[in-house]
Amino acid sequence: MKEGDPPKSDETDEGRLSELLVEDRVIEPSEEFKKGAIVTDDQPYQRAAADPEAYWAEWAKQLDWYKPWDKVLEWNPPDAKWFVGGQLNACYNCVDRHVKNGLRNKAAIIWEGEPGDRRTLTYWDLYREVNRFANVLKAHGIERGDRVAIYMPMIPELPIAMLACARIGAIHCVVFGGFSAQALAERINDSQAKALITADGGYRRGTIIPLKHDADYAIAETPSIEHVFIVERGDFPLRIKEGRDHWWHRVMQDAESYCEPAAMDSEDMLYTLYTSGTTGQPKGIVHTTGGYMTGVLATTKWVFDLRETDVFWCTADIGWVTGHSYVVYGPLAAGATIVMYEGSPDWPERDRFWQIVEDFGVTVFYTAPTAIRAFMKWGKEYPNRRDLSSLRLLGTVGEPINPEAWMWYYETIGQQRCPIVDTWWQTETGMIMITTLPGIGKMRPGSAGLPFPGVETAILTDDGEVLETGAGYLAITRPWPAMLRGIYGDPERYVEQYWSKWDKATYFTSDGAKRDADGYFTLLGRVDDVLNVAGHRIGTMEIESALVDHQSVAEAAVVGCSDEIKGTAIVAFVTLKLDAKLSVDLEAVLKEHVARKIGAIARPQRIIFSGDLPKTRSGKIMRRLLRDIGDGRILGDTTTLADTSVVEALQRQYEESEEA
Ligand code: PRX
Repeated sequence: MKEGDPPKSDETDEGRLSELLVEDRVIEPSEEFKKGAIVTDDQPYQRAAADPEAYWAEWAKQLDWYKPWDKVLEWNPPDAKWFVGGQLNACYNCVDRHVKNGLRNKAAIIWEGEPGDRRTLTYWDLYREVNRFANVLKAHGIERGDRVAIYMPMIPELPIAMLACARIGAIHCVVFGGFSAQALAERINDSQAKALITADGGYRRGTIIPLKHDADYAIAETPSIEHVFIVERGDFPLRIKEGRDHWWHRVMQDAESYCEPAAMDSEDMLYTLYTSGTTGQPKGIVHTTGGYMTGVLATTKWVFDLRETDVFWCTADIGWVTGHSYVVYGPLAAGATIVMYEGSPDWPERDRFWQIVEDFGVTVFYTAPTAIRAFMKWGKEYPNRRDLSSLRLLGTVGEPINPEAWMWYYETIGQQRCPIVDTWWQTETGMIMITTLPGIGKMRPGSAGLPFPGVETAILTDDGEVLETGAGYLAITRPWPAMLRGIYGDPERYVEQYWSKWDKATYFTSDGAKRDADGYFTLLGRVDDVLNVAGHRIGTMEIESALVDHQSVAEAAVVGCSDEIKGTAIVAFVTLKLDAKLSVDLEAVLKEHVARKIGAIARPQRIIFSGDLPKTRSGKIMRRLLRDIGDGRILGDTTTLADTSVVEALQRQYEESEEA
């Protein structure tokens, strides 16, 4: 296999596929679930395939529009416009219409802080807060089309801030609170955000993450920021710059209680969200309003079989796309009750998530395989302490789930009662694309399932040949409403990255997958240099750039190796400069350096120092061999190596460092 080839069926980045291949269990949803489900037969698949535009228009009609669209889809590959000419407001659809339609006193957000503090906001409360904060933004000169950066812990003010932006037509750009100040500065500078919304801090594993303090380092390098709004989460020390920095609670005191929502064009930008790709620089994925809201509403309702009475908990941080689509926009557009939790699943004890499920009667629970593998490792004892009988449906997202973890989730958390939806999608797709529908789809542990009705995916070879069955590249072969509309400020990269592998109408996902005789898609991992660490996307180039930025490092190659819990662990192979100052703790220093430059999620698990890196005769680093070394596998084909002694030395070094 050449570098960059799609994984064959016996080989993946994580080397986990062999496990998936032997998996032939098929599990049906229970009769009881099937009977009560929203989708009870496969008719929606047929209806959507027969006329996808009419089908998506039916979904769009479930939103409230100020002005109806003239045309459902305008497709000039690779540029799509959905619901052309229509006007709506995302915030109105998530808040106002529920207040008007009888859900005024329904809990919109049930929140628990890590220390145990609690708040419940009804739709009316949410409406009040959002209106007032929208007025605060306006009063500080934030206008329609302006970008607003958000760097916050998981507290209710985070969705309030996002919805307030949407209300006035400002474009939010949420940066995960675990990213470093430098990562925040890069994203603010790329988006030219005018304001930053943050908090004095947040709680994680009993300690305080001082967000405003960190953000100060970013703001020193971001001239576009005119105002900073700070939520007071605790009593954390910080500096206030008069005129620029404003306490949230103070500015809210004077704010008017109603702010007219802006009538946005269906194709107006709703948000940008930065994600890693194959270059050192993260890209700002652009999502617009009408199509995105339609896609997330449709998938929330059908994939999660959502009803009036559900208590929906998607455990993702809102800093990632999963939180945008399935904590905020999808469930709130559907008028659901959502649960939000600020902290860590093992704080103060490893049953924290199950305590929350029990206390709030969570019915639908959506999390990542990494979390499930951690729960599995911690043992049944923790979920068994709690009453999980309110749960009726489970979901997973973010990375391939190994059948063993799937079965554990099914048996221990779902108690064989709850179907599991394994949902494949990306920051770029905006909405769930491949999954089973819980009331009808037979489940196969490890396999995501079928494209959602109205979505069309295929397995393609390098030459663009469609494979009915077998492994290859996963492609999306028809535009879908929540699709990305671009990379912020970089139209060329958008076309090159996503729409150039085959023709301009076929989206390249950068994932390998296989399709079985029953049409089910099983994901095989990324085929580019993007790692999926604990369900979070991180580019090897980003980590390599951070490493070579250190004065002692000459060259670095980063690969993903198998990790029992995180799925993938970051392993860096580093060569030092001749004049590098060697210190005993250089490994720790470099790890810290990466965490400071990008964020703790990018911190390498291991660093292997080496005199040289294995390269082809043309000078390309053979990461595949480094992965073999890291995973302790027998080395693959080494015939293209310029110097085979390099890998032998590395292998020895790796084994020695492991023993150490
Ligand atoms: O490799 C796929 C993996 O996560 C990537 C997208 O990452 P991100 O944009 O951060 O969005 C994650 C949450 C939607 C994909 O290219 N991925 C996501 N879901 C699954 C998955 N891999 C296997 N199975 C999934 N269910």
